Amino acid sequence: MTSEPTPRPVRRRGLLTGGVLAAGGVLTGVAVTRDPRPRDGGLTEAALATVGTMVEPFHGVRQAGVATEPQTHGSFVALTLRAGTDRAALGRMLRLLTDDAARLTQGQPALADTEAELGLLPARLTVTFGFGPGLYRAAGVDDRRPASVTELPAFRIDRLQPAWSGGDLLLQICADDAITVAHAQRVLIKDSRPFATVRWVQQGFRRSPGVEPGGRTQRNLFGQLDGTANPRPGTPLDTAVWVPDGPAWLRDSTTLVLRRISMNLETWDLLGRADREVAVGRRLDTGAPLTGTAEHDEPDFAATDADGLTVIPDFSHLTRAHVGDDRQRILRRPYNYDGVPTAEGHADSGMIFASYQADIARQFLPIQRRLAERDLLNEWTTPIGSAVFAIPPGCQPDGWIGEQVLG
Ligand code: HEM
Repeated sequence: MTSEPTPRPVRRRGLLTGGVLAAGGVLTGVAVTRDPRPRDGGLTEAALATVGTMVEPFHGVRQAGVATEPQTHGSFVALTLRAGTDRAALGRMLRLLTDDAARLTQGQPALADTEAELGLLPARLTVTFGFGPGLYRAAGVDDRRPASVTELPAFRIDRLQPAWSGGDLLLQICADDAITVAHAQRVLIKDSRPFATVRWVQQGFRRSPGVEPGGRTQRNLFGQLDGTANPRPGTPLDTAVWVPDGPAWLRDSTTLVLRRISMNLETWDLLGRADREVAVGRRLDTGAPLTGTAEHDEPDFAATDADGLTVIPDFSHLTRAHVGDDRQRILRRPYNYDGVPTAEGHADSGMIFASYQADIARQFLPIQRRLAERDLLNEWTTPIGSAVFAIPPGCQPDGWIGEQVLG
């Protein structure tokens, strides 16, 4: 992001001592007290409360929720526009949803919020809006659709289900607290009802704050460190993710490819540790490449073993996914999902794979093509859902998300 603002605690004075805005904007006296005495493990109420009170900025030239340090809980809600939701109706809808998001992300209840108390702890809530190809068609502004935001070609590894695919409007709702996410989702869906129906909802999770020291790479449900080679904040991330120029509807936008990828834990469990490491090309404990000792060591794809074979096999996920050129990199911000197991106890687990890039055709597709063609990990992973969205630029306090596209 142009500014990579650090989250700040919400100004709590009014919230703790004053009151909250209830339905219709009336002030009610809700007393919230804090007991700062240490509890078991040395955590104080005050220390625990900071997770809930942290705020991510909503307004800005770019939308939050992309370069934002990933929050623990993510809900991806895809909507289908109702017949008749045209450009003007979309404008009304997005003004309303922007207002909800601007308030809730800052720790204020939405207007006419029926559970106003649930709006008080934002826990770094971000609401990110994504526009699918159908939205541009419905609004009659297809000339403002970023060219690469179009349905992906079919890959031979795909087993896509309509239940997890497509969508006209995406609401990506992320926070470090599940109640905050549930409340924001409810408010946003309620306000969307006159304009759209719910197509699918995908919910996932990552490590919780405080479980590990900050800055650690999270693990996926295969037990792998996942995110090591992501572009770091600064130049590589900026150039790879955000569109630097062009008309107002394009500049400072990005794109999202969302793939639901089922991970077969039953067959993965049958693999020995060495085979698991070969499949990815990295060690399970440290995340180091097979040619190194530390997580962020550069992989040496040319190194060979005593038999003359490359140490990192050329069919490993690392080799096939690796990108050298910063401008072709993608930002991965995945969430794990873990559904209800079958009666036999077989897991329904996987990854909501979220990839952000300035241009899907230039960045995401070459990687996905290489992986679909040959990647050992395909033995245990299957894409079962797919959707693409433009993430339009952000807005200022007097504006709304989508104004550059629909205004
Ligand atoms: C369930 C499916 C997947 C799993 C379990 C998985 C897991 C991993 C792991 C463990 C790494 C190594 C650590 C890291 O750099 O994060 C990695 C790297 C990577 N993955 Fe995946 N991945 C999956 C799907 C995908 C997909 C669909 C893509 C893109 C189309 C992708 C792109 C990448 C890239 C670009 C890297 C970094 C490669 C590098 O430059 O070192 N992955 N993945």
